[in-house]
Amino acid sequence: MSTGRGAANGRLRALVLGAAAGGGFPQWNCNCANCADVRRGVRGLEPRTQSSLAVTANGAEWAILNASPEITTQLIRTPALHPADPASVGNRHTPIHTVLITNGDIDHVTGLLGLREKQAFRVLGTAEILAVIDQNPIFQALDRSLVRFEPVALDEPFALVPGVTATLFPVPGKVPLYLEGETVVTDLEGENTVGVDLVGPSGERIAYVPGCARMTGRLKDRLAGADVVFFDGTVFTDDEMIAQGVGQKTGRRMGHMAMSGPDGSLDAFRDIPVKRRIYVHINNTNPALREGSSARRTVEEAGWEIATDGMDVTP
Ligand code: MLT
Ligand code: MN
Ligand code: ZN
Repeated sequence: MSTGRGAANGRLRALVLGAAAGGGFPQWNCNCANCADVRRGVRGLEPRTQSSLAVTANGAEWAILNASPEITTQLIRTPALHPADPASVGNRHTPIHTVLITNGDIDHVTGLLGLREKQAFRVLGTAEILAVIDQNPIFQALDRSLVRFEPVALDEPFALVPGVTATLFPVPGKVPLYLEGETVVTDLEGENTVGVDLVGPSGERIAYVPGCARMTGRLKDRLAGADVVFFDGTVFTDDEMIAQGVGQKTGRRMGHMAMSGPDGSLDAFRDIPVKRRIYVHINNTNPALREGSSARRTVEEAGWEIATDGMDVTP
């Protein structure tokens, strides 16, 4: 192919479009130590946009896993996701074949509105997540004669893009913030929060779990043997937002297990055999964002990486 997209290399590839949690890094209204310092250009901190991963096996057809509010910026700065050569495809084209949504959170669905320009693609998710999107009239901006909403059953493999088989699996989590009632179950296992198992042409495996309220035996079994796991790195300490004076909620209340602590992901992963583990969906308060911090050392010594925007991962 003449577009330099590396078509037909036939290997699973994931590009981190945005590594931050809801709010981004820095968050527009936040003066926590990380946000204030990254705004001032302090070394060791790098801005990050909100949560999204792009996946391909042939370099020409891509799936976007979660559509972040910054999707248009993310696409502009990612040449692999630009329209192909107009000489071959005309004046409207996108390599985006499918958008897959893992929960109904604002940081994962609002980017669909940025893709509203009479362009054909598929939107996949569980029936429950797609219903939440569909019930909101603003998403009628996506012309349904072009944009197909296709519900996917849990635990049933399906073709995500050419060369990539995906399976959605339930992950403990909660309903989106805007659907919370009086009482909130923060670690429900069902269709509201899912992880994605991705298998490439040679059997290489990536698991993507940007939100997880707690580790379960079933989830450990599901992740075991993956070449790469992208996992919920929202907070380092469960109460860090409270301790930093920027919120009243714990990570647990938001449906996110912390990295540290007895119920944290660092401990949980010690006995899960995976080759490479990468934190994504990182909240701006997380001290592990800062290179050289003790939290960053703890994470790295446990074998984890902290995702950055633009990180290009091939298992
Ligand atoms: C979350 O991951 O907890 C949500 O994105 C929070 C939010 O919607 O602001
Ligand atoms: Mn989020
Ligand atoms: Zn902040």
